[in-house]
Amino acid sequence: MKAIILKEAGGVENLVSTEIEMPSPKKGEILIKVKAISVNPVDIKTRKGLGLYNTLKEDGPVILGWDVSGEVIELGEDVTSVEVEEEVFGMVNFPGHGKAYAEYVVAPANHFADKPDQINHAEAAASCLAALTAWQVLTQQLKVQAGEKVLIHAAAGGVGHFSVQIAKYLGAYVIGTGSDANYDFVKELGADDYVDYKNEKFEEVIKDADAVFDTVGGDNPLRSLNVLKKGGRLVAIAGGVTDDVKKIAEAKGLKKASAYLVQSNGDDMEQLAELLEAGTIKPYISKIFSLDQIGEAHKHVETGRTRGKIVINVDGEE
Ligand SMILES: NC(=O)c1ccc[n+]([C@@H]2O[C@H](COP(=O)([O-])OP(=O)(O)OC[C@H]3O[C@@H](n4cnc5c(N)ncnc54)[C@H](OP(=O)(O)O)[C@@H]3O)[C@@H](O)[C@H]2O)c1
Repeated sequence: MKAIILKEAGGVENLVSTEIEMPSPKKGEILIKVKAISVNPVDIKTRKGLGLYNTLKEDGPVILGWDVSGEVIELGEDVTSVEVEEEVFGMVNFPGHGKAYAEYVVAPANHFADKPDQINHAEAAASCLAALTAWQVLTQQLKVQAGEKVLIHAAAGGVGHFSVQIAKYLGAYVIGTGSDANYDFVKELGADDYVDYKNEKFEEVIKDADAVFDTVGGDNPLRSLNVLKKGGRLVAIAGGVTDDVKKIAEAKGLKKASAYLVQSNGDDMEQLAELLEAGTIKPYISKIFSLDQIGEAHKHVETGRTRGKIVINVDGEE
């Protein structure tokens, strides 16, 4: 089968299409014929030798990618939750070796959910790591409640655009940040308010928020402490939370200021599948590339300006 091997950490020229042996499913695993995958910023960081590179390197040739949608073609021992020919999607083996940049992928059956008939494989692949991060952070880490005021940074991005929709579904009053170019997009996702971070300091215009979801990093977590009310919560997923931020958060009487790393979880994927099936959340796909264009897809995500998601059509079908 064809897979994209990362020869060594570095530029996109190190992503090399290679013929390798088909994987076979072990106990609890399934083999998927991949239809579509998606690219996340962690793929780019890992390609450059950051992110999860050191962990993956110890596990043999590095094959990036964690988001998969496809058809089940073989079951490992003890798998009863899915059947051959079913269509499934999921974020596989994260934060381990996902190996999704390939024509076939093996992963634990309990990392997947059934793909809703209402969405195609590209849309399903777009709704894995980014959607799962939004779901786990908003419902399990920030525990957003109806009526709360929630600030979502980078609201037009992969994680952000799902977060706006999920926070609205949870009944929150949602404020998104992004550039002027994404104002209409984020408002159409359901955001109640929007701050153009290039023209305004969000901490000067937002007050008394219950929760902040930061996906930007840098000084954003620190600056975000100013918008939270006493007892408020902050979760930051890009670069974490420094000791300084934790100390200031405590001094301000905040309930939470922490980092989070998304985890593969089929039950959470089922929750997302229900929301996708009902049309409550919808992935936005900026561009679809082929597997041979993986380098171009990386360059696109690397700009940090992606609206929604970038998807790779692996089998060439619609
Ligand atoms: N810890 C975890 O489990 C986890 C999981 C998922 C993602 N992440 C990390 O979270 C970050 C975001 O991921 P993603 O997939 O959402 O990225 P992404 O799709 O590449 O985000 C792109 C978006 O960021 C917006 N943006 C850039 N700078 C901004 C700023 N200063 N303020 C507001 N918006 C800004 C851009 O909007 P404009 O063009 O309008 O500026 C663009 O729409 C990445 O660093 C990723 O590695 C971590």
